[in-house]
Amino acid sequence: MLNWDEYDESKQQKQKEQPAPQKIAPVVETKEEKEEISSVPSSVEAGERSKLAKEALENLDTREGEEELEGQSGRVQVDDKAMINCRADLNQLVPFKYDWAWQKYLDGSANHWMPQEINMTGDIALWKSEEGLTEDERMIVMRNLGFFSTADSLVANNLVLAIYRLITNPECRQYILRQSLEEAIHTHAYQYCIESLAMDEGEIFNMYREIPSVAKKASWGLKYTKEISDPNFQTGTEETDKKLLKNLIAFYCVLEGIFFYCGFTQILSMGRRNKMTGTAEQFQYILRDESMHVNFGIDMINQIKLENPHLWDEEMRQEAAQMILEGTELEIQYARDTMPRGILGMNANMMEEYLQFIANRRLVQIGLEEEFVGATNPFPWMSEIMDLRKEKNFFETRVIEYQTGGALSWD
Ligand SMILES: [Fe+2]
Ligand SMILES: [Fe+2]
Repeated sequence: MLNWDEYDESKQQKQKEQPAPQKIAPVVETKEEKEEISSVPSSVEAGERSKLAKEALENLDTREGEEELEGQSGRVQVDDKAMINCRADLNQLVPFKYDWAWQKYLDGSANHWMPQEINMTGDIALWKSEEGLTEDERMIVMRNLGFFSTADSLVANNLVLAIYRLITNPECRQYILRQSLEEAIHTHAYQYCIESLAMDEGEIFNMYREIPSVAKKASWGLKYTKEISDPNFQTGTEETDKKLLKNLIAFYCVLEGIFFYCGFTQILSMGRRNKMTGTAEQFQYILRDESMHVNFGIDMINQIKLENPHLWDEEMRQEAAQMILEGTELEIQYARDTMPRGILGMNANMMEEYLQFIANRRLVQIGLEEEFVGATNPFPWMSEIMDLRKEKNFFETRVIEYQTGGALSWD
């Protein structure tokens, strides 16, 4: 996992601090020790191995596994299920309690795609040609690939190392597994673009360390993963349950719900102008997944609030709003950094208003008041692509229009 502790240390300083390599004496195992580790004698003839396997299974003590499975409760009733701190058997997917999570798993699966399905030949020619793109346009492509290749990895790590374990019902876990696969596909898509365009891979994948506005966004997200990804972290007290809730707000409402928006808008705007259409199509597929991730996260947050109203006190509400507004400010800085001049029919001021419009939406989605009264959407075409048709959550309506395969259209 990426470790932000090392971010400020220079290479030389790290090298100085590193102790000189020590020679390690080879470990010599005795014959008895070897057999103890593997429980299989080292000199078994090939024909003997299946006999040993059968014998080992005959001697297998299944009591421990059965206790674990039957353990706390036996057959699960719907009312036994809970979002967090649930003691019912987590292996029983049905009876369903959280149908919205299962439905999103089905929708996500109907939306499956792979980066290699998208034709990149036009992008390669344009990227290589001297007068194909302006310097500002090239910077936008590189900075976004640099930011997203790290951000998707941060999101995936947070899902697998922190959230999965702490969300205690199988319907949500089923979707989290689906989302984890999708995050891997997104990282694959960025790598596929970087490789197709023959970019300097080291430069792109290290951008989160080197470009301040990219670095700040990554570092802001990591702050919320650090504690709850500790294997010893457990929920169950008001303080720790709130920590999990803050992590969900940071990752679903801010990272996926705000930090992706400037970059997505820039790349999709390029695609609408017939530039880098392969890269733009990759981003459009990713955006379709991401809007589902945001909606799933918001449904989880609202469901946790519903089941644990004491967590959503005044202090928590203020903190949640502050987090969303900090994220908005960071994304506005990123917009200014990546668009020093007007480009592709947009500029940093328009992006600022768009981000305020998105921030209002995130606040309202988790039950808070709008901050930027009257902010409107200067990019209605983005709403057509995602907000209005795709960005529906359980508390509004169900998404019904996903299909597997086929190219996306730009209208
Ligand atoms: Fe992603
Ligand atoms: Fe995502």
